[in-house]
This record gives sequence, C-alpha cells and structure tokens, in this order.
Amino acid sequence: MIKILQEYILKHFSILNVQRENFDVLIIGAGIAGLSTAFYLPDSLKVAICYKSSFEDSSTWIAQGGIAASLSPLDSPDVHFEDTIAAGDGLCYEDAVRVLVEEGPERLKEFMKLGVSFDTVDDYLDLSIEGGHTLPRILHAGDRTGREIARFLKSNLRGRKNIFFFENCFVGELIVDDDEFKAALVLLKNKPVLFIARAIVIATGGAGQLFSQTTNPLSATGDGPALAFRAGARICNMEFYQFHPTVLMDNTSPRLLLTEALRGYGARLRDSKGNLIMEGVHPLRDLAPRHVIVKRMAQLMKEEGEKCFFLDTRHFKEDMWKNFPFIKSELKKRGYNTETDLIPVSPASHFMVGGINTDLFGKTSIRGIFACGETAATGVHGANRLASNSLLEGLVYGKRIADFITSEERFVSDARFEYRLEVKSSVTVDFYNLRKQLKEVMWQNAGFVRNGEDLQRALEFLNEGLTRLQNNAQLSREYYECLNMFICGKLITESAIFRKESRGAHFREDYPLKDDINYKKNTCTEKSRGLFLCDLKEAFYGW
Ligand code: SIN
Repeated sequence: MIKILQEYILKHFSILNVQRENFDVLIIGAGIAGLSTAFYLPDSLKVAICYKSSFEDSSTWIAQGGIAASLSPLDSPDVHFEDTIAAGDGLCYEDAVRVLVEEGPERLKEFMKLGVSFDTVDDYLDLSIEGGHTLPRILHAGDRTGREIARFLKSNLRGRKNIFFFENCFVGELIVDDDEFKAALVLLKNKPVLFIARAIVIATGGAGQLFSQTTNPLSATGDGPALAFRAGARICNMEFYQFHPTVLMDNTSPRLLLTEALRGYGARLRDSKGNLIMEGVHPLRDLAPRHVIVKRMAQLMKEEGEKCFFLDTRHFKEDMWKNFPFIKSELKKRGYNTETDLIPVSPASHFMVGGINTDLFGKTSIRGIFACGETAATGVHGANRLASNSLLEGLVYGKRIADFITSEERFVSDARFEYRLEVKSSVTVDFYNLRKQLKEVMWQNAGFVRNGEDLQRALEFLNEGLTRLQNNAQLSREYYECLNMFICGKLITESAIFRKESRGAHFREDYPLKDDINYKKNTCTEKSRGLFLCDLKEAFYGW
C-alpha cells in the first residue's frame, strides 16, 4: 500500500528504505504521564520511551507545589471531587473526576511503599493547601515534588530489560491507516527511523512555549495536540489555557514559578500601593482558584494601570522557608531578600487544560493512539484545572492506559506499508524567528484577556505562518516543532474565537459573562469536521 500524507507533506522523501524498529508500545514523553504508563506495563512488553531533548526538560521535572490526594483523615475523595468540580467551572466530566479522586490515594500509597519520599512532620504527611482546595491535601517533596517522582520512576525503569529510552528522539509523523495507528516516523538524533508499535501513548506535556511569558520548559511546544490533530484525532477544549498568577517578573525564559503553596503558608498579594488585591474579591482571598486571581490582576492592570503585583512573604518565619529551599535560593541568586523585599510577580502561561480527547482509559478517537497527562483532555479539569491535580492525573491515567494495553488482545502491526513523504529542498524559513513572533502574537492576542478582534489578528498570523511552513517543509526537528506550535496556536485561537463567553481559564472581555444556555459544552475539533460543540459525556469517548 502506498499512501501520500495529504497535509503538511514533505516532498521527495520515501520511508521505504528507512531503518525500522519494532516495539509493543511506544511512549512519547518522559514526564509523570509517560513514565507512569511504562511503570505499570508488564515486563513481557517491549517499550520505547522517546523524548525530544534531555530527561530534565519536562514540566514534571520542574513541578514545585505537589500532588493532590485525599490522604488526611479529615479529607475524602468526595471533598476532593467537589473542589475539582468547582474549579472546573461547569465543564468537568464527572466520571473522569471520580476515577481521579478515588484511584489517586491508592496510587500514592503504592508509590510511597516503593520508596517515593514526601515531606512529613512527626511521621505524618505534611499536607499543604493551594488555590481552590478547601482542605490541605497536597503531598510535596520540598518545592521539587515532580523531580522526586521522576527520579523514582526513572531509576525503576532503568533497571528493566524491556524498557528502552531514546533521548533526542523527536516524533515527526504518526502514520495512521483505516483509523488505526501503524507507526511513527521519528528523528533519532536527526536521523529518520520508523518505530512500529501496536500502541502509542502521547505524553508530551503542554504548550506554554507558545506564549512569550511562561513557566513551562522549552519542550512544551504543543507537539501532542498537533501530532494527534494531523493524524485525524479529536481535540477538545483548547481555549482553556491556564495562566499562573504568581510568576517572578523578570526577563528569564522560562520564568520562575512561585508556587501557590507559598500562599497556602500565608503569603499575600499586594498592588503597587501596598493594598491586598484579593480582599473582598473571593471568599478564599489569596487562595481563590488561579483564574479568579488572574482575572483580578487583569482588572487592576486595565483600571489602575498596575504593571505587576507583589508577593509578600516578609512575615514568614525561617522554618516556613524550609519547605521552599529551591525558591529561596533562586530568589537569593536574583538579589531578593525575602525578609525585607516584596517579590514582583505577574501571570504567565502555565497549563494546557484541553488537549487530545480521551475516554476513561486514555483511548483517543484513533485505534492504537492513547494520550496521557497534560496533553490529554480526559475531562477531569473541565474549564480550569484545580492546583496539583495534574501530576495526579498523569499517575492515575497512566496506570489505566497500561492496564488497558496489557489486557487488550489486539492486532500485530502490519509493517508492509509504504508512505511517501515529500520534502522541499530549498528551505528559506527562519524557524527561530517565526517561533519568536508566534510567542509574542499569542501572548498579546490570545493570552489571559481576550477579545474577538485580537483573536482574529492572531488567527491571520497563524494562517500565514502555516502556509509558509507547508510550502517549505523539511525533515527536521526545527521544522516539525515550529509546525506543531503553529497548529496548536491555531487550535487554541479558533476555539477561543468560537467560545463567545467567559468561563474558567478562558476570559473574553467582549463576552465577560458565563453563558450556560449556549456554552455549557465542550469545544471539539477534528481535521475532517472543523469545530463543534459537544455535550459533556459525548466529548470524551475513545475508539
Ligand atoms: C504551583 O505549585 O503553584 C503549581 C502547581 C500546579 O500547577 O498544580
């Protein structure tokens, strides 16, 4: 069978003679979602874990605050469920949230037994509280929780003979035939190789790098939704991009996150005149859900001309800082004395709430393709994610995907296909510059305050960029990454134009109110169908 990929095609390149590697399962991404999936797969399956740069270049690696689970005797999955639903602002898929809050505690107990170490006080878990939580339920390992979990998973997986790690391995194309995944064309240290597997798990994280201001690592370029969309899968709720309110205001990239846990310990937010900005705005004040705080910041920026805000930790006793050694030392390096200085903060892109639509087993709309973690839309986050539910989602759904793949008696991949990809020889696009422009356009026009006119401007830029990219295709990571960023930017912008209301993390100044009658639905999109609204249950299905 010979098939030409119809869109974003590369000219004059045939995969007929490309080196082929066979696996049972191919996992893209080495954050908690990808690693947990691998962790729960049996030794009888040959598994490849591909990540595009280094192991440390993931959101998990830099995750500070922690992982939420109802492990306190005062707490229960029901209360965690209610808090998650409240943050999700009417769009959570309740069945998916149930799975998260009920299976989360079991997974974490399992991990602790096996050696993951979370902070304790007098032999009890030291649970912290973050925005939107009504009880302390965040397990943490100092302010480097993600690193502790990734360390544990990596050392476990490194000792297993069935697991193969591929660094500098970029997945360029998913090859799908008859709505079924066949293989992935990967660039392994820039050389094309065909990875054939019966299942692929996309766990590539978010897309914070689409915005000039972000907390996300360099790897967060929206590869997951873009790859899946190009392959024909359903994508969901991309307009809901979460911006974090307390990110150190400086010109580093990514910018330094100042975890919400600091506000859990009593840090307060002030404006330039010293006023507390959340007084009288929300009953949880500085611990209101983060979209509420960001919205308040946007209002003060517009009405009072504030450029940034100030996190006040001056009243912290030294022993409070023992929970935040990394932040303390980073602030010190940058010249801040936390006993005397106010810390300037402003919002930055932080978390992709939507993504590749899945069912309760991580199955997407295409057979053989799974999605897990930030890149997936399982429905647990609705219109806005509750703090510290993201690491939990990767862990809980990673296991469910592994269990499903293990139990499925399914096809052996047909390796006798041939795809002719087409590559243009003369490339004139400056990918670096194009990306830079995209980040600024997205930040200015599709950031935490949006309106129809700005969004339309962003869309025109994205369409022009995509045409240039399609006319100058090449087989390189630079090309594919830039293409993915433009496709993902377009998915975000089109959904944001489509949703003419404000809800959760999506705030339109031209439609400032929530409109339950018309928009208490998910925004779905498929390459073959375009955008459409979908009822809650209907949106989250698998093949
Ligand atoms: C934070 O620590 O404030 C971020 C945690 C999260 O995004 O869940």
